[in-house]
Amino acid sequence: MLNNELPKENLPQFPESLWIASSSIPSFPKLTNNIKVDVAIVGAGISGVTTAYLLSKQGLKVALIEAGKMLNGTTGHTTAKITAQHDLIYNEFISHFGEEQTKLYYEANREALHFIKQTVHEHQILCDFSEEDAYVYTNSDDYEQKLAAEYSAYEALEIPGAYIKQAPLPFPTKAAVVMRNQAQFNPIPYLTYLVNDAVQQQGCQIYEHTTAVSMEKGNPATLFTKEGYRITSDYVISCSHFPFIDGGGFYFAKMHARRAYILAVKTAKPFPRGMFISAEEPKRSLRSTTVNGESMVLIAGESHKTGQGICTLQHYEALKMFGEEQLGIKEINYRWSAQDLVTLDKLPYIGQTASDDPNILVATGYKKWGMTTGTAAALLIEKLVTGKKSPYQELFKPARFHADPSLKTFIVQNADVVNHFVSGKLGMIFKNPEELNIDEGAVVRANGKRAGAYRDQQGQLHIVDTTCTHMGCEVEWNDGERTWDCPCHGSRFSYRGEVLEGPAKKPLKIVFPE
Ligand code: FES
Repeated sequence: MLNNELPKENLPQFPESLWIASSSIPSFPKLTNNIKVDVAIVGAGISGVTTAYLLSKQGLKVALIEAGKMLNGTTGHTTAKITAQHDLIYNEFISHFGEEQTKLYYEANREALHFIKQTVHEHQILCDFSEEDAYVYTNSDDYEQKLAAEYSAYEALEIPGAYIKQAPLPFPTKAAVVMRNQAQFNPIPYLTYLVNDAVQQQGCQIYEHTTAVSMEKGNPATLFTKEGYRITSDYVISCSHFPFIDGGGFYFAKMHARRAYILAVKTAKPFPRGMFISAEEPKRSLRSTTVNGESMVLIAGESHKTGQGICTLQHYEALKMFGEEQLGIKEINYRWSAQDLVTLDKLPYIGQTASDDPNILVATGYKKWGMTTGTAAALLIEKLVTGKKSPYQELFKPARFHADPSLKTFIVQNADVVNHFVSGKLGMIFKNPEELNIDEGAVVRANGKRAGAYRDQQGQLHIVDTTCTHMGCEVEWNDGERTWDCPCHGSRFSYRGEVLEGPAKKPLKIVFPE
């Protein structure tokens, strides 16, 4: 965990999520034979695990597969706020979708929060669950009005809350909107309970290090894994962050990936009850937690499009500076980052990918609010698979197209991807591989071509082809995490080229050592 050679107030040398470091996560084998099930779920984060739990409980034969380790993607790297307060969203949603649809969005998230709370209490899951009020605060004159408008939206939607001047933070605020009785927890013990129950009580099958590479539609549908095994199933559900298969949904054009950064610190000033996020940029998100009886504060923010940021360590430094100024940092215990997907209209895509393939479903695009929205997705998918109606079906339908606000973004996002495709190809080459110091990575020229090089702690050079194996954009070096990140759709690769996050399924080509 901590590098003891560094002063305590320095950033830890390596990124590590405190949720993962402080919990034990069960392991599961690789799939090594063909299987037949009722439901195949791809992706073992909060939506995949909760869906597997719910559908197993319904008596269905479920297989959950994960390309890497379960709960090790965004779910293991979240701030773990369980809230329907998704930044400033309700006033904007009312103007885009109307009051009725916006109320449904709130209700879906409120129900998800209620489901988690009830499950924790019913099964006495020890996961540091606590009910907290959620605050969006501002220190900018420009945002006071926006917060007042957001609170008017709360009133119109009958969301329990308040508009106040001073949030209960140890630094001044100009205004804040409060949403009452939200919650926070450690997602790993909670989801581990769901996993154990699904496997031990309901016979759910889980396979890790098992990548789905293609699918044959039909009834049943067939998934093919990288090793060539088949999973035949009546339903296929993609909960793999970026849908593992596009299925005509054009998700690559309709979503973009954003990375955000988190520090877990011990502070000099006491931290109040509540979860907080600033309305204005740079975003600052704050909450407390307890690790082995010790209180810590999570300071998160600095989000940017994946693969398009400044030197990523600067994002951690900016959070550290904020923490020092506002809370006084005694010790930095963990640092890590997370990736989220944002859809064109900011609503997630949950449901059938196409009307002629009703047995292929996706759940993705939770912005930064996957604890609630990922759970809402599982609750909706359970209904769709078991043939029940849900009031949220139309709102989250992946095939929707809200032309007005979306169209402009659609064009801009596509242009952005094209831009990165072209500029990545033409981009400057900054270094020769021989010039790299220990623990340094950069775009280099190798064998006359653009390549990515990293010199590890032992002095060994690793050179990969920087052409993303998804759709051919050029990956960029992320020095905070020591990864190669793709600016087009957010695929991430280790310095050895292994896939860490999709949509890419194949590793980067290794140039050296061969
Ligand atoms: Fe799509 Fe890289 S993630 S091209």
